[in-house]
Amino acid sequence: GAALVGGVLLEDLFEPPPGGHEAARFKTPAYVYDLDGLAASARDLAAGFGAAPHLVAYAMKACSGGPILRALRDAGCGATVVSGGELSVALAAGMAPEQIVFNGVAKQAWEIDLALSCGAQGILGLHLESVEEIALVQARARALGRTARVAFRVNPDIDADTHHKVATGHDEAKFGVPLEDLGAAWEEVMRAPEMRLVGLSCHIGSQLTRTAETLRSAELLLGVAAAREASGFRFEYLDFGGGFGVGYGWGGETPPAPRVFAEVLAQAVASSSFAGRRIVIEPGRCVVAEHGVLCAGVVLVKRTRASATPRRWLVLDAGMNDLVRPAMYGAHHRVERMEAASDGAGEGEPFRVVGPVCESSDDFGEHVFGGAPPRRVVIRDAGAYGSTMASEYNGRPLPGEIFLRGGEVVAARKARTPEDWVALQMC
Ligand code: LLP
Repeated sequence: GAALVGGVLLEDLFEPPPGGHEAARFKTPAYVYDLDGLAASARDLAAGFGAAPHLVAYAMKACSGGPILRALRDAGCGATVVSGGELSVALAAGMAPEQIVFNGVAKQAWEIDLALSCGAQGILGLHLESVEEIALVQARARALGRTARVAFRVNPDIDADTHHKVATGHDEAKFGVPLEDLGAAWEEVMRAPEMRLVGLSCHIGSQLTRTAETLRSAELLLGVAAAREASGFRFEYLDFGGGFGVGYGWGGETPPAPRVFAEVLAQAVASSSFAGRRIVIEPGRCVVAEHGVLCAGVVLVKRTRASATPRRWLVLDAGMNDLVRPAMYGAHHRVERMEAASDGAGEGEPFRVVGPVCESSDDFGEHVFGGAPPRRVVIRDAGAYGSTMASEYNGRPLPGEIFLRGGEVVAARKARTPEDWVALQMC
């Protein structure tokens, strides 16, 4: 049948209303999100912690639309941010400062200032990623007359079993304070009256497909915390990062459900000296990936016979500029027909689905649709690292975003227009 998201028939969003004289409500390419679905995913993940105190600090780099942040705030989540821009949006969406953590290897003075000065005490934790960063944060806290709540992001030197471009916890990554520098970092923060050390964090990588490495990094962090607490010091929270993988539904990776990661972490904490204290996690992908799709129009069907393999190409109006994951990571996303198939003609014959961009890597792979060539398609599991990584490469304006709740459109971000793009160039 026809493709649905959040109970909504996608073609209804793009077809002109009956009568046909009015312009269609939305144009492809556009992202569509199910706010109910992503809130439910966040709640299910949090349920994995049971009665253990916890904060699900949604990593908004995965998808940063205001309606998504508001829905997740209402589901009890906080946010993980990596820039002053993200922090500003999280605050504008009503996230409480005391539920926000801030990662980043290159935080600038204005970003630190924003983190320290929002709310009564600033954000929950500014995560320090180097010894060198300490002096800057201290100087900003002194200048503002605030106390900086900081945590060390520890580089646990654990090799996550994932794509090398998204592994972050091995010793050559630029992220986090190396274990051997932790002592010096500790001393420096303890000497700074403007800084309060409130936590430790780590993150080993993204699209993790098993819990083993996450558990290992958690145990390492618990060990570091226990050693530091032997002298009577107490951390407020431990943050075990994000990275919980999702199944992209084409028979590739099959990670455990996200809540299993939470259960494993809760168990590790329960059997440690940190039992009963606050656990923070930073999930992005597993909250939103499956609740967002990229809708694309079919521009034309091209046939080539010259090469050894004759092909049918389905050429879309959406490309790697809208969804870069296939080009960048070799990721595979399911592509489905949007409208119901009208007949069985051509069944079984695959299409090579490609975008409009002038790069061979602008390629979504081979897909079978059945029936006549589709007029529009739906690229699935595009809710995470889709719109946030989109660009206007090749002069293609950023796509629109449509947010659904209770089977209705409740918000939409307008697509940028070709005129916007022209204006941007003609500075
Ligand atoms: N915390 C930190 C410190 C991170 O670096 C990341 C992701 C997260 C949390 C959230 O990870 P998640 O739960 O979403 O896996 N663009 C790539 C993924 C890059 C992830 C970067 N860091 C992709 O499309 O696969």
